[in-house]
Amino acid sequence: MCGIMGYVGNKEAVPVIVEGLKKLEYRGYDSAGVAIYNNGSFEVIKRKGRLTVLEEALSKRAPSGHMGIGHTRWATHGEPSNENSHPHLGEKEKIAIVHNGIIENHRQLREKLERKGVSFTSETDSEVIAQLAEYYYRGNILETVIKVVNTLEGSFALGVMCLDEPRLIAVRKDNPLIIGEARDGMYLASDVPAILKHTSQVYYLEDKEIAVLDRSGVEFFNMDGEPVSKSPETVAWSADSAEKGGYQHFMLKEIMEQPKVLRMTIDSALCDGGKNKAVIDSIDIRSYNKIIITGCGSAYHAGVVAKYVFESLCGLSAEVELASELRYRNPLIDGQTLVIFISQSGETADTIAAVREAKRRGAATLSIVNVVGSTIAKETDYVLYTLAGPEIAVATTKAFSAQLVLLYILAARFAQDLGALTGGGGTLAEVSALPDMVESLLADTGKIQQFAATCVGYKSIFFIGRNVDYAISLEGSLKLKEISYIHSEAYAGGELKHGPISLIEPDTLVVAISCCQRLAPKIASNVEQVISRGAKALVIGCCTDYEEGVGDKLSAIKFARINELFSPSLSVIILQLFSYYVAANKGLDIDKPRNLAKSVTVE
Ligand code: G6P
Repeated sequence: MCGIMGYVGNKEAVPVIVEGLKKLEYRGYDSAGVAIYNNGSFEVIKRKGRLTVLEEALSKRAPSGHMGIGHTRWATHGEPSNENSHPHLGEKEKIAIVHNGIIENHRQLREKLERKGVSFTSETDSEVIAQLAEYYYRGNILETVIKVVNTLEGSFALGVMCLDEPRLIAVRKDNPLIIGEARDGMYLASDVPAILKHTSQVYYLEDKEIAVLDRSGVEFFNMDGEPVSKSPETVAWSADSAEKGGYQHFMLKEIMEQPKVLRMTIDSALCDGGKNKAVIDSIDIRSYNKIIITGCGSAYHAGVVAKYVFESLCGLSAEVELASELRYRNPLIDGQTLVIFISQSGETADTIAAVREAKRRGAATLSIVNVVGSTIAKETDYVLYTLAGPEIAVATTKAFSAQLVLLYILAARFAQDLGALTGGGGTLAEVSALPDMVESLLADTGKIQQFAATCVGYKSIFFIGRNVDYAISLEGSLKLKEISYIHSEAYAGGELKHGPISLIEPDTLVVAISCCQRLAPKIASNVEQVISRGAKALVIGCCTDYEEGVGDKLSAIKFARINELFSPSLSVIILQLFSYYVAANKGLDIDKPRNLAKSVTVE
C-alpha cells in the first residue's frame, strides 16, 4: 500500500514522477503529492483525493527541478487530507521523505521529539521519520538514514531528500523498492510498471539496504555504511504491458489477456527448457506427507480450488488456510510439510509473515508469484512464476487464472511422482486445452453483458456451488463485492438451508456454479429452492440441464464440458465478466475500487 516514485536526472522531475505515480495508483489513492528540489529549497505540492486532483494543482503551478520524490497514499494513520499526504518535511524543511509501510513506535518517537520542542503538522506515523532525520542530521545524510532506520520499528520503504546533500536516498525493510537505471537519470519506485517506460534495467533493493542516487548513477550500502555491490537485472515486461491499450479499464484488458497468459504460463511449466518446469522437476513430493496452501484474497481462493485438486489427483492431504490466520496459529508444520504460498505481488504482509513462520518450523516452502524479485519470491525455497505481466487493476483476474493452471500442473506432476495418476499425460493435455477454451468464452461476451445489465439494482447476491464450484464461487463473490459494492456472499450449496436461505427474497440474485456432473442435481435443487422463494437465479457451468439464455426468473450461461477439477478456469471467466459488467453498468471506478489497494503491505 502506498506508492513511491522518485527521479534524479536530466529531465524535469514532475512529469516523470506523476507518470510513475499513475502506474502505482493501484497501491492507494487517498491522496498524492510531490516534493521537488530546486535551487536550495523544496517545493511540496500535495492534495487529498485521486492523482487527478494533484495533476490539476500541478497544471496551474508545477515546480521546476530535476530531482524529486512523489507518493500516492493508502491512509493508515490519519484521515486522507492535504496535511496527512506525503511527502513530509522536517520542521526546518531540510529533509523530505515519502514512506510506504507502518511505523509501529511512531507514538513514542513523536512524544520524544515533541518534548524536545519539535512540532508536527500531520497525524501520520510517517512524519516522525522526517522529523527524526532532521533531529539526527549532522551533515551526513547516509549516516542519518542509518540512525533513523535503526530507531524505527515496523515496516518501511523510504525515499529521502536532504537540502544540504542533493541526492536521493532509498531504504527498505519489509516493503518493496526498486531502482531503475537509464541514460537520462535514475528512478526509484515501489514497483516495476512505474519505470518501464524509461528503462528495463532494475536493481531490487534488499531489506536494510540503502541506495544513494544521483544523476550519474547509484551506490548501495549496508546498515554499517559499507558499500554493497549489486548488478541490475533486465525486466522482461514491455512498456506497453502497463498501458490500457484501447480498453476502457485495465480490468477488461487483463481479462482479455488471459488466453495468452495461460499459454505462456503452461508452456513454461510443461515444455522442456521452461523455467517453471525446471523448478517443478526439482521438487521431490515423496519427501512430504502434507501440503498446506496459503495466501490472501483471491490468492487464497486459488488455494481453495487447489486443495480439491491436490487431494483428488494426488491422494495427499492438502490443507488451505488464510495467511493472516496461519501466521498467528500454532500450525502443525514440520520438515515433512510442503507449504505453498500464492501471491500475485509477492509482497502481501500476511503472506510474507506466513512464509517466515513456516520456515521457522522447518517446512519446505514453494511460492507461486507474479512479480520477479519480490520478497516472497526471494524468501521461499522454490518459486514458480505466473507469467501474467504487470497486473494493474486492483481486482485480480489474469494472475489468478495463471495461479490456477500452475497449481493444476503441480498437482498432476506430484500425482505422477506418487504413482497416483496413471496416464498423467491425458490430464496435462486437459490443462493445455484451457487457453483455447478460455479464448472461445471471451470471444462471445454478449449474454453475460446482457444479464449483467439487469443486475445493477440488486442489494444482495449469493454465490453457491459444491466442491470446486464452491471454491470458485468464493472468488466470484469477492470479485463482485470488490468492484460493484453489491453485498455478496458465497456458500457451499449444502449450507444454503443452514442460514442464508432466510435472506432469500424477491430482490436477491443467486448465482449457482454447476460444473460437477455428479453434483449437478443437488445444485439444481438449490436453484429451485431459491426461485420458489422469489429469488432470481443465474446458473453458470458445463453440467446443467437448464437452457442457455437470459430469462425472467432463471438465466443460464453454459460452456463446453471439461474435467471438473479444471472447470474453475472457465467458470471464473464468466464470473469476472459478470462483476466487470455489473460495475461498468453502475459507472464505477472499476480499476480503483474504494478503500482497496492491490498490494497489501500492511497488516
Ligand atoms: C488484495 C487484492 C486482491 C489480492 C490480495 C492478495 O486484497 O485486492 O486482488 O488477491 O490482495 O494479494 P497478492 O498480491 O498476495 O496476491
